[in-house]
Amino acid sequence: MTELSINVNGQSQVVNVDPTTPVLWVLREHLGLTGTKYGCGKAICGSCTIHLNGTPIRACITPVAACTSGKITTIEGLSENNNHPVQKAWVEAQAPQCGYCQSGQIMQAVSLLKNNTNPTREEIKSYLSGNLCRCAAYMRIINAVEIASKIS
Ligand code: FES
Ligand code: FES
Repeated sequence: MTELSINVNGQSQVVNVDPTTPVLWVLREHLGLTGTKYGCGKAICGSCTIHLNGTPIRACITPVAACTSGKITTIEGLSENNNHPVQKAWVEAQAPQCGYCQSGQIMQAVSLLKNNTNPTREEIKSYLSGNLCRCAAYMRIINAVEIASKIS
């Protein structure tokens, strides 16, 4: 075990963990931030997507030691009252079905809209193609990103 300092959602946190532990488990088990989900554990499904210095990463395969010099943002850190434009668009589009994949979808969408404020449906599909939805709510997810692009 090693004492590591990480910055999560603007707050400095000290955790005592094996440095090779995927940051997903540090967020969920040590910090109680359970909005980030475990799906495949192999960087295939995207349900564990968080941002490190604004770039989406797969928390299930990223060792916590690789995050100590950056700023982590999770779904809980997007906004104080769930009122980030992308979250509002998600509600308007009624995007989720079971909801399990949705925080990862939202984190990926936020990253897209930061770099491309007016993406086409094809660009949305392409950028979110690594985020799988077992409920196949893809059309509503794409609709939500389109709505978000208009209110961002
Ligand atoms: S749980 Fe990380 S990509 Fe599937
Ligand atoms: S809404 Fe159920 S997995 Fe995507």
